[in-house]
Amino acid sequence: MGVPAVREALDGWAARIQTLVQTSRVHRDVYVDPQLFAREMERIFERGWIYVAHESELPNSGDYKSVVMGRVPAIISRGADDGVVRGFFNSCRHRGATVCEAEYGAANYFRCPYHGWTYGNDGRLVGVPFRHGYDSSFDVAKLGLIPLAAVESFHGFIFARAFDDAAPSLASHLAAAGDFLTTFGPDGKCPIEVTTPPQRARYRANWKLSCENITDGYHPGFTHASFVHAKKVIEGKEIPVKGTDPHWKITALGNGHAVIDFGGSNLAHRDNVFNMLIFPNALFLGVSVRIIRPMAVNLTETSFFPTVVRGASEEATVARLRGHTELYGPMGKVSADDAEMFERVQRGIEHTGNEWLLFLRGAHTHRSDEAGRPVGIDGTDELGQREFYRRYAEMMARQ
Ligand code: FES
Ligand SMILES: [Fe+2]
Repeated sequence: MGVPAVREALDGWAARIQTLVQTSRVHRDVYVDPQLFAREMERIFERGWIYVAHESELPNSGDYKSVVMGRVPAIISRGADDGVVRGFFNSCRHRGATVCEAEYGAANYFRCPYHGWTYGNDGRLVGVPFRHGYDSSFDVAKLGLIPLAAVESFHGFIFARAFDDAAPSLASHLAAAGDFLTTFGPDGKCPIEVTTPPQRARYRANWKLSCENITDGYHPGFTHASFVHAKKVIEGKEIPVKGTDPHWKITALGNGHAVIDFGGSNLAHRDNVFNMLIFPNALFLGVSVRIIRPMAVNLTETSFFPTVVRGASEEATVARLRGHTELYGPMGKVSADDAEMFERVQRGIEHTGNEWLLFLRGAHTHRSDEAGRPVGIDGTDELGQREFYRRYAEMMARQ
């Protein structure tokens, strides 16, 4: 491709994204087109920051976790000698095989199963069987596992970027969402830990439907009506699910992040504090954290991490974990309802002539809080979704 053709291809993308993702409506192609999906993986999941692990998942030197960043298999590992958290492509420097298939573990070495090349958990190549086949130009120092472009921890939350890019620093990527994350950090009011591997579930629909849903205060009274009803009948409890409740507040936090705050929560207990999206793949729902992994344009895997609060009483911890089981886990009463809606959206737009999804609620108002952050009219505002797609379009259109 010559320079003019490359330029045209790039401009073509920018124009296409501009057409498909507008301020208050998004075209169905964005949910069903595999070409767009491939670009999302490259632009958003492989070049931008994504959430990969909580530090408590790798508490000890030598602990590791294997992850997939977009389409890129990677290892996040805590050095056995220095305790430093690093990230590498999960790909042997000999002939490319993945060197680690276990999801979690503790090891001093990763040994490639194909021909036995062995890497320290700091990524250095430390063993090559049958060295006589190589001459003096064979330099093991240059053949360590390839490091990810960046791995950084923010108050216990580890984020990474697979490839280098003109990406902003992690702190600037997190923008105002950083203030909320610090709440959950070791020095915050609600210092959370992840103490078990996640539960997993897949739904047959696009990944972005999860991101849209997390700050959606418009749907609970309808999507979760059966749960609300059951709570009332069985436990005599009224669950507040009205997005028009004056205590519900949606705030756009910049760079695609958004939060819905339900007000009046008790940080040390299981009560919902807020639901938050850290663009593009981390969802904070009350007592749980989720990581979403797009598998295909119409298939998404969700990892559900129940969290516990460090130093909380056993009673509070049990209540918190029950909250996860009851609500937020894969079989939680609200999670299954939401997944059903995601699949219905996908089915509803995949082959019909219904072209545009609307995110208009509250778009005519421009309110902000004391800090100057945009806030919605109430819990039903689609401000969070508009913030998500604003950042999405920015990353997808960038040349
Ligand atoms: S591919 Fe890893 S040792 Fe050959
Ligand atoms: Fe929901």
